[in-house]
Amino acid sequence: MAKFTETGLTYDDVLLVPAYSDLQPGDADTTTRLTRSLNLRIPLISAAMDTVTEARMAVAMARQGGIGILHRNLSIEEQAQQIDLVKRSEAGMVTNPVTCSPDDTLADVERLCAHYRISGVPVTDDKGVLVGIVTNRDMRFETDQSRPVRDVMTPMPLVTAPVGVSRDEAFELLRSHKVEKLPLVDAGGRLRGLITVKDFTKSEQYPLATKDVNGRLVVGGAVGVAGDAEKRAMALLEAGADVIVVDIAHGHSQGMYEMVAKVKKNGAADVIAGNIATRAGAQALIDAGADAVKVGVGPGSICTTRVVAGVGAPQVTAIYEASLACRPAGVPVIGDGGLQYSGDIAKALAAGADTVMLGSLLAGCEESPGELIFINGKQYKSYRGMGSLGAMRNRERGGSYSKDRYSQSDVANESLLIPEGIEGQVPYRGPVAAVAHQLIGGLRQAMWYTGCRTVPEMHERGQLMPITAAGLTESHPHDIQMTVEAPNYHGR
Ligand code: XMP
Repeated sequence: MAKFTETGLTYDDVLLVPAYSDLQPGDADTTTRLTRSLNLRIPLISAAMDTVTEARMAVAMARQGGIGILHRNLSIEEQAQQIDLVKRSEAGMVTNPVTCSPDDTLADVERLCAHYRISGVPVTDDKGVLVGIVTNRDMRFETDQSRPVRDVMTPMPLVTAPVGVSRDEAFELLRSHKVEKLPLVDAGGRLRGLITVKDFTKSEQYPLATKDVNGRLVVGGAVGVAGDAEKRAMALLEAGADVIVVDIAHGHSQGMYEMVAKVKKNGAADVIAGNIATRAGAQALIDAGADAVKVGVGPGSICTTRVVAGVGAPQVTAIYEASLACRPAGVPVIGDGGLQYSGDIAKALAAGADTVMLGSLLAGCEESPGELIFINGKQYKSYRGMGSLGAMRNRERGGSYSKDRYSQSDVANESLLIPEGIEGQVPYRGPVAAVAHQLIGGLRQAMWYTGCRTVPEMHERGQLMPITAAGLTESHPHDIQMTVEAPNYHGR
């Protein structure tokens, strides 16, 4: 082994080479592979970080055609509940609807509706038999919140349908009876599912949404390798996770291989494994059975790994190296971290990534966890590394669960922690829909400039030219003071 490798390159070191094109940006197809068996319509994943992805972000990402990975800096129960929230949020059919009993109070129902962001719930008896439905309409003029549901609900007979009703038949029933919810019941009158009119309107509103075979939004959850990681993975699978991300800072390790094998043995979900930054690392994860390989050691905007430990590999080279192992094996590559602009997504795909995982580019969205912060009239949102001191000593939720991402779960005294990330804030960027529009818009422009109609064509034909520091200066706006903010460009 030579002491020195070749020079590593990252996003700012390269440009995509323009090539003959016979397509328009709108002709480009951004469909791509997330894992061996899951596809996405846009190549974007929101990072498993506690200032980026909880249920609201995961819902927003899946609606746009990407996916969110729920972070794991919270208890197993809380994370499983987040998965549940996403799976119930929009569905062709809710298979396990939230219900209440006739003896619950209106205050109980209000709480349920607020928690799940729904407008009403079917009422069932203790055998699961549908006895009525209680919705906003029934409760609007009630002043006494202690009244039992049985006094207020719309009782049976309701408009219902049998399990297995077709989408068209269901829509026709909702339309002809002018109702918003259609409970599905079996021969014994037991509630088996629910179809809502909202799900039809949302399907029209979000035509690219990433959905499972039952029409529910797709979501992933992150787990580690230490402690009760296996229990966490099983709880997430039970709650309906479509993909489990075994996520540690150094994925080229024995603990990772064992965890991938355990999750694969137990669940039907695909397993994403990472992070690695070399061809050998990628090969090891493929051999362990990973359904996708996540690449990135230290490229993240909040990472200090490369400074604290002096370890890493510039991201474009790391993605390319990983793809050399992954492409022949048919295993997709995820470029995780380090992207600052939409053009970086195109560069990642050309280097060999199938999708990219974003932290800082999404942390400023309305749907990320946390409140808006106002500073001198400008709006910001918090963003922190999962290896930052704040995340590793996270007390708000009864202990840190992210320490083991950095192999420090055994460090009890927080003054002895070795942080590998920082805490800060990013400008508020508005809703995910607007941010994703700009990011994917930039990617489509890149596909037009390079004449690549599809992501596989980007892999094959996207050529990257290393540039100098002068080339990078020329790439950014220069010799001008920016006076108007652009929706897809911020100064450096
Ligand atoms: P961006 O650049 O999109 O990066 O903000 C997000 C990715 O960074 C990783 N990550 C960390 N890496 N220390 C690290 O070395 C940290 O504290 C940290 N927190 C997150 C992670 O892979 C994420 O997706």
